[in-house]
This record gives sequence, structure tokens and C-alpha cells, in this order.
Amino acid sequence: MNPATPAPRENQGAPLERVDARLKVTGEARYAADIAVANLAYGVLVTSTVARGAVSELSLEAARATPGVLDIVSYDDVRELRKPTFGMGSYTSLGPLHERRIFHDGQIMALVVAETYQAAEEAAASVTARYAQEPASAELDSPGTEELDAAGKVAMLKKDPASGDFEQAYQAAPVRIDAEYRTPTQTHNPIELFSTTAVWSDGQLTVYEPTQSVYGFRSEIAKQLNLDLAQVRVVSPYVGGSFGSKGPLTPRTAIVALAARRLGRPVRCVVSRAQGFTTQPYRAPTRHHIRLGATRDGTISAFSHEAWELTSRLDNYAVAGTKTTTRLYGYGAVASKVRIVRADRQTPAFMRSPPELPYVFPLETALDELAYALGMDPLDLRLKNDSQREPIEGKPFSSRHLKECYEEGAAAFRWRERNPRPASMREGDWLIGFGCATAVYPTNVAAAAARVRLAADGTVRVQSASHEIGTGIRTVAGQMAAERLGVPLAAVSVEMGDTNLPPAPTSGGSNSTASVCSAVLKACDQVRARLFQAASAAKSGPLAGRDVSRMTLRDGTVLAGDGASQPLQQVLGASGAGAIEEYAEFVPSGAPVDAMQKLYRGQTTMVRSEERPAVSFAFGAEFVEVRIHARTREIRVPRLLGAFAAGRIMNTRTARSQLMGGMIFGMSSALLESTELDPRSARIVNADLQDYLVPVNADTGTVEVIMLSETDTSVNPAGVKGLGELGDVGTNAALANAVFHATGKRLRNLPIRLEDLLGGDSAA
Ligand code: MOS
Repeated sequence: MNPATPAPRENQGAPLERVDARLKVTGEARYAADIAVANLAYGVLVTSTVARGAVSELSLEAARATPGVLDIVSYDDVRELRKPTFGMGSYTSLGPLHERRIFHDGQIMALVVAETYQAAEEAAASVTARYAQEPASAELDSPGTEELDAAGKVAMLKKDPASGDFEQAYQAAPVRIDAEYRTPTQTHNPIELFSTTAVWSDGQLTVYEPTQSVYGFRSEIAKQLNLDLAQVRVVSPYVGGSFGSKGPLTPRTAIVALAARRLGRPVRCVVSRAQGFTTQPYRAPTRHHIRLGATRDGTISAFSHEAWELTSRLDNYAVAGTKTTTRLYGYGAVASKVRIVRADRQTPAFMRSPPELPYVFPLETALDELAYALGMDPLDLRLKNDSQREPIEGKPFSSRHLKECYEEGAAAFRWRERNPRPASMREGDWLIGFGCATAVYPTNVAAAAARVRLAADGTVRVQSASHEIGTGIRTVAGQMAAERLGVPLAAVSVEMGDTNLPPAPTSGGSNSTASVCSAVLKACDQVRARLFQAASAAKSGPLAGRDVSRMTLRDGTVLAGDGASQPLQQVLGASGAGAIEEYAEFVPSGAPVDAMQKLYRGQTTMVRSEERPAVSFAFGAEFVEVRIHARTREIRVPRLLGAFAAGRIMNTRTARSQLMGGMIFGMSSALLESTELDPRSARIVNADLQDYLVPVNADTGTVEVIMLSETDTSVNPAGVKGLGELGDVGTNAALANAVFHATGKRLRNLPIRLEDLLGGDSAA
């Protein structure tokens, strides 16, 4: 069996090849900055070299004198631009060049536009700035930061989840864990660089930019440039990785659009890798204080999760993962609190599994510590506290197969061969450790629209302005249409990534497959209804007068309840129609009545897991084997194994790919990725792919993905829970737990590096 194409279990779709696979591997897929535009001028950003202060002088003379330079846009040129408000549309309230105040390292100060990139780069490098510099605070513990409670101040958290009397339950518990954990700043490094291409024509603006939200971008661009929505089109046919970074608009886009209008010529700005670290958002560093209390038999009676997240001076941003961690097990009493810490940094934003990746890490590490304190297998501790109800409001889970994930995963991983004693397993010079942890991700769903056309020749066109960010959304949306309309996937073309198409939600929160497939399903059912009506209403023919409610569509043929059939091309031919086209709006239950109108205006309203009568999450069990060299402390990861239950799997090939990528991303969060700041200057010191470490093939051993069969039709019509952000959650904790098992050394701060394992442990 080819591991890339797992055999589908019940409620799982065939591992069909991606419809755009060939285009992607041959370089034919056009990413935003690849799209040919005539008469382009090229823009390069000039960014600050201090993190806090005011720009007292910006010298542009040398830049203007550079051969090939056409224009420079800076502070005095943006009066016509409106300042953004912080939220889903714009990740920051910092205006594009509205103020000479510097709030963070690498803040945009100007855009140089020239005939070539080389000229623009040369000119940008010649710009000098003088600053009235002020001391800057880089990190959570830096002097000069400002701390406040998050609840009620951040969009993601109205109230800190709590239940029962934690302090009393904790004091009464015979076994207790009390520890602090940390996760670092991480920067999204999609291989496709950030870019904007702005083209004006008769007062109409077209923006080519990689984005997770073409409609969201359109609204925000229109707002910032004082245009009508109808004057702006956003095109983003393929996105070369995103991980949250291309969700909200950043200040560059309006500057590039303004430059293009002023110059009367299209302008393209591709941001350098280094500038991507400071002109885009990032994952904030976090600190956690976990307390767990349990009885001797391993029943958890008390859980408290306090967390601190870093944000900018300007905007109150937090991911507040306590919403998930406080609901994960049947704990008894629960307390939680999230605080934000304002520092001299740009505003953070989403990064893959924004709340869960940093918040599940401390919980799942603390559970491993509790298991050792109890002398219990860490897997058994989790099963002991597994619950079909969440402890905050006592709501049921719509479905929860965590136990089954652990059982099947443990068998495949051979977990029970593990000797629980730390530093007890060894092969030659290599210390072996096994660790496990839970993966969890809330099921989000949003309103979406789709248009589906079935032509008389049996071809199908699906249109919805979703985004191919690497997940395979074109393929799974096409599969849904092929299945409902009884045609092969090869007969379906799928158009996405353009505001000329019906709107789809932001491709974030792992909602897209659920939302878009539900809209496609609805549109297809409308097409079927019209097709069946045409067959039944025909004056003659095999289906004339037949009951439409008993008709089905299979392999290009319409079938009546009594077995009579007619090829769909004949049905359409007889009706005289060239095609049947239907537009459908899917609005999930629990969404506001105006969710579709908001979507047209660029706002995605996600119906979130905890807002439903039965909370819904996808679950998984992560297993990691580490090998640590006894002398050099080199850390290798020969095996990752994850077993997941995520509702309907549309396509086992693309789903496996997402889960595998997620697990590697999770390993990376444990061992590699960390954006380092100089505490004296609050400036990033590793803004490149040499020093910001991401995993390559040599870092990755075998990755096994198991997808359990799970059917949950309550989550949405498609029955999909979403899994793009499931696979990475918990992997970091499983890895840290494996490091403890291998060495006896408990590491609570990520990333875990070789130097953390030198000296002072029990494994010498
Ligand atoms: Mo993704 S981090 O939910 O955009």
C-alpha cells in the first residue's frame, strides 16, 4: 500500500489526486506574484532599524537620485489613506505611514518604486533615518511592559472559563502538580514570500496578493483607500503556504496601491524574507502556570490554567486557548485566567492552531508529570479522565473518540513495549524515549456561498471564492460536486481565489472544507432538483412522469425509483437547456441571520465549538519517539505517529497530507522554531531561514497518520470537522514527554535544544 493514499474507511472519501497537482509540480500554478502584468514597476520597502521612538529625519535624496527610481511613497504622501481599525480585516490599528512614531522593529517607513527590483533595492538601501530612540521592551518579562487581564478586552475571550471551587479542590488533592511553561515567538515562514501587485484601470483597482480571505482583503482595501467595494477586485488563485499569516491585511497593501495610482502604472512589491519577519504578524510568546490536583487513583479533581500572552502597545490581541484546555477532560473544579502583556512589538496574529498549539503544550506536559507523580502510565491517565461532557457548562461533545484514537495509536506505535522508567531504554549510544499527548481542535463552521453549473456535455463548474492555501480545497470541493452530480472528478473544474466569485469565508480556523463543501452540497442538490424536474416533466422519454423524490444521479445517469434511467445529457438535451446553474448560500445553524450579508462585506462569522448546544472538537492521540545521543545530546525524532478522529474525511490523501504536515509543524514547534529578539533593542536577530530553523526531510523520520472512521452529521451538512490545524496540536508536548522519558530531564520551555540536555540529568 502506498502510505500517501490510505484506503478509505467508512465515511471517508477516496484518495484522489489533487486536481491542481500537475500544475503545482510543473510550476504552471500561478501564484499572485507570478501573474503576468504589463508595464510593471517594482517596489521595495524601507523599514525602521529601531523598535521604539520617533523618526526625526528620513533622508530620501540619495534614493531619489538612484538611476531607475520612479517614486518614493512616505509619511507625507498618505493623507488620502484611511487608518485601519484592529480586527479581522487588519491585523493592526497602525496606519500605513500615518505616523512617524515607531512601535516595533522593522516598521515600514517608505516604499521605493523603480523600473527594476535591483534599482529599488539599491535605492531603499541608501535611505537613512534619524530617530529619537526610546528604550524598548521585547519580551513578556522585560521591564517597561504593561500587563492587563484579557477577558472582555480581546475578541477571543469574553470571560475566563471556570467551574466549581478550584482552590478548595486543589488544596484537598493528595497529588499535586504546580509548574510554569513557556513557548517562544514564532514567525510564519511560508515558502511563498508575501507580496502585493496593484493594477489600476479606469478607477478600478485589482490587487493580486496571496491571501486567506479575498473578500476580507477587498473590504479592508476599499476602506483604507476610500473606494466602493465594487471598485476593488482581489485575485489570489494559489497561496504558497500561509499558516494564518495571510489572513488579515497588513499595512503594505494600501501603500503599494497608492503608489500604483500615483505613478499611473502597476506596482509589484515582493517582500524579502527578512522584512516578512517585521511587516507581517507572528505567533506571540506565551507563559503558563498550570496546577493540577488528583486523587491517588488518577482522577483529576482540580485544574487551573493561567496564561500570559505578549501583544503590541497598540492592540489587545490574545488567542486565549483556555477555552479549549479547560474543556478537554473531566477535571472537577476548574479555574483559568489569561493576561496580555503589551510590549514594543508589532501586533501578533493567528498562527496555525493559534490557541491550541501553545496552550495544550503545558497542559499535556503537566499531565505527563502528574502520571509520573502517580506512578501511572500517561496514556492511562488520559483515558481515566476522558469524558463525554465538558466540565465548564456540562455540555455534551457532539462526538468524541479520543479513547479510540489512543487505543489504535498505541497499538500501532507499540506503546506498551515502553519501559516507563526514565532513561531506561537505550540502543548503543542512543537513549530512547516515548511520549504521548492529546491533539484537539474545535470544529468551526461559517456561512459560505457557491455556484455550481452542470452543462449538457456532463461537465461541472464549481465557483466559490475560497483559497487554495495548500490544503487541497479545490479537490475536495470538486469531489463533493462529483459525488452529488454523479460525474467523475475529471469532469469538474473548480474556480476559487477571486472576488468575482461567490464569497467564501476566511480560510482560517480549519473551517473551509466544512463550510465550502456544505455550500457546494447545497448548490448541487438544487441542480439535481432541477434536473430531476426536467426529466419528470418531459413529454416523452424513460423518466417522463416519474416521481422526482425517488430519483438519484449516478455515473452520468438519472435513475428513477423503479429502475428506469436516462443519461443526464439526454435529460438536458430534451429540456433544451444548455446547462443548469444554481447559486446556494449555506448558513450554519447558530450563525447570525445576516451572516451572508456580512460575508459579502468581507466578514467571516464563525460559529464556534463552545457556542453550540453540543460542543464539537476533532481529537487525536500523538505519539513520538525520540533518540538522544548519550554524549553529544543530539536529538533525533525517528517516529511520529498520530491517530485522529475528525468526522468525515473528504479525501484520505489530502487529509493525511494535512495531518502529516501538522505533525511535522508540531515537531518543529518543539525543537526548532523560535524568533529570537535582542533584549536590549527589541530587534529580531534571526530573520532568515538560516537561523530561524524549520524542519527539512533530514529532521523528519517516519510519520504515520491513522484516520479513524467517525460520523458526526450534527456538525454541518458535510459532516466535516476540519483537520488542517489538528495534527500539530500536542505533538510538542508528546515530544517533550519523550525527552523526559529518554533522559529523566523535564523541560518546560520550548524550543528544546541540545544545550538544554547537557549535564545535570539522571541519564548520564
Ligand atoms: Mo489559520 S492560523 O486558522 O489562519
